[in-house]
Amino acid sequence: MEISVRAPLDMHLHLRDGEMLRLVAPMSAADFAGAVVMPNLVPPVASVEAMQEYRGRVLAAGKEPEFYALMTLFFREYTEEELLRAKETPGFFGIKLYPAGVTTNSEQGVGNMASAEPTLRLMEQLGIPLLVHGESHGFVLDREEEFLPVYRSLAAKFPRLRICMEHISTAAAVKLLDEYENLCATITLHHLLLTLDDVMGDKLRPHLFCKPIAKREADREALLTAALGGHTRVMFGSDSAPHPREAKECCGCAAGIFSAPVALPRLAQLFALHGAVDKLQGFVSDNARRIYGLHVPEKKVTLRDEPMQVPESYRGFGQKVVPLDAGEELGWRVVERI
Ligand code: DOR
Ligand code: ZN
Repeated sequence: MEISVRAPLDMHLHLRDGEMLRLVAPMSAADFAGAVVMPNLVPPVASVEAMQEYRGRVLAAGKEPEFYALMTLFFREYTEEELLRAKETPGFFGIKLYPAGVTTNSEQGVGNMASAEPTLRLMEQLGIPLLVHGESHGFVLDREEEFLPVYRSLAAKFPRLRICMEHISTAAAVKLLDEYENLCATITLHHLLLTLDDVMGDKLRPHLFCKPIAKREADREALLTAALGGHTRVMFGSDSAPHPREAKECCGCAAGIFSAPVALPRLAQLFALHGAVDKLQGFVSDNARRIYGLHVPEKKVTLRDEPMQVPESYRGFGQKVVPLDAGEELGWRVVERI
């Protein structure tokens, strides 16, 4: 069996910088037509200049001249002039808001949502999408649900602001999509596959540790139903978040799952298993293109139900990073990219 996807997009991707960027960017650029690149570098990408320079490094590292790198700015209070300049900058996509301290490199995020409102109002007026990491500081399993009132209030206060709930992990977040037309969401591969039991039910699996953490089976099922059922406001966003192996296999493991090299084959396998291959195109491309009005370069990626051996790790440029499904044999692989 073969599936072809046109212009696959990864709507939530961490590429890092420097050596790690050079190791991982070609993997996403090979399988995807484009990606939304997260700004949580150290220091964060919080100026138009830093974003332009970072985009240059991303495109150089990706080695695919056509790769559609959609760049994001780290949310802070921006002036109208800054936002107008961002809007005119090639490759600019939107602004990513992190509540302060909830995930990797988010220390400089927003402490008080009220202070964010003038910038959000300007973004609404200028048609700049808002992307939100929706977690609170509460009990780990409740962090997303406790954040849902913030989404509600943003969606109601800024009805013309396009708000993306980045990598939702709960049934409650899926349900919230029905309440407000201006909300959409990205869903990762790992939240479609894993529950908290996989992360720590038996042994603690550091390579499956991410934020938001994988939750209950009912949550996974709700996410699956949305993705496989062709929900028009959910999009694939891998949240592939590489950390050096020693930062994962240690005391104080960093949050993040590196899924970029297996993302498309594993998605094809999952959609085929559930008899939903006709819904893959919408999930990995069409919904995002329609929601954001994107004009993505032509690219067709064909997958076939043949074995793919996933390496134990990917190495290069002095880096070593362990992927999702390391050492496993997947049932699908990419056979053509044109
Ligand atoms: O698991 C995660 N890793 N979640 C995030 O929100 C950030 C990411 C990272 O940058 O490592
Ligand atoms: Zn992320």
